[in-house]
Amino acid sequence: MADAPLVVGIGGTIGAVSSTERALRIALDAAGREGFRTRLFGGEDMARLPLYDPRSTTRTHHEQDFVAAVRDASALIIASPGYHGSISGVVKNALDLLEETAKDARPYLADMPVGLIATAYGWQATGSTIAALRSIVHALRGWPTPFAAAINTQITKFDDQGGVTDPAVMEQLCMIGKQVARFAPLVDRTGR
Ligand SMILES: Cc1cc2nc3c(=O)[nH]c(=O)nc-3n(C[C@H](O)[C@H](O)[C@H](O)COP(=O)(O)O)c2cc1C
Repeated sequence: MADAPLVVGIGGTIGAVSSTERALRIALDAAGREGFRTRLFGGEDMARLPLYDPRSTTRTHHEQDFVAAVRDASALIIASPGYHGSISGVVKNALDLLEETAKDARPYLADMPVGLIATAYGWQATGSTIAALRSIVHALRGWPTPFAAAINTQITKFDDQGGVTDPAVMEQLCMIGKQVARFAPLVDRTGR
């Protein structure tokens, strides 16, 4: 298992139990069942990242750990709440840090399948948040996987056992894990 390809999850919110992070965990676990190692950077992890300063010549060990995990990853799953109709600042700050990979042999998210999840307290912001995430992944040269999950947390509730009130949402989150797992082995991680 130590040699298994890695799927990294980035997402969640800070300050309390996060439905976004719980949704992400379900999708990551589905990738894990396909034989992948998984690593989750949730709200608490992202809150430890300083605001990204592109000119800084030093990086904290939290920043280094995050960038190293993404460099090592064969696939990503990103989950954001809809905040004012788009992705949250916390998630965006983490993604901005990927600028550190600009000069890598495989820069940014090049050639990586990326699963997407958006939660919002209503439907409208789920769509705009997924659209924003897709644009960001394209800008980072990644490959958004075909299905993205839009979760309305006004009607869908998660529990701390990995359960969710709506079986269709469970199916959608598992599909995201399976889709990134299906495409990840096709990717040569050296970027050739
Ligand atoms: C600052 C802020 C802005 C928000 N903006 C929106 C919004 O524009 N549309 C919406 O439907 N929900 C909005 N919400 C609600 C969250 O998207 C929603 O509750 C989400 O599921 C929270 O995820 P969590 O449980 O992981 O914290 C906002 C919440 C916050 C705190």
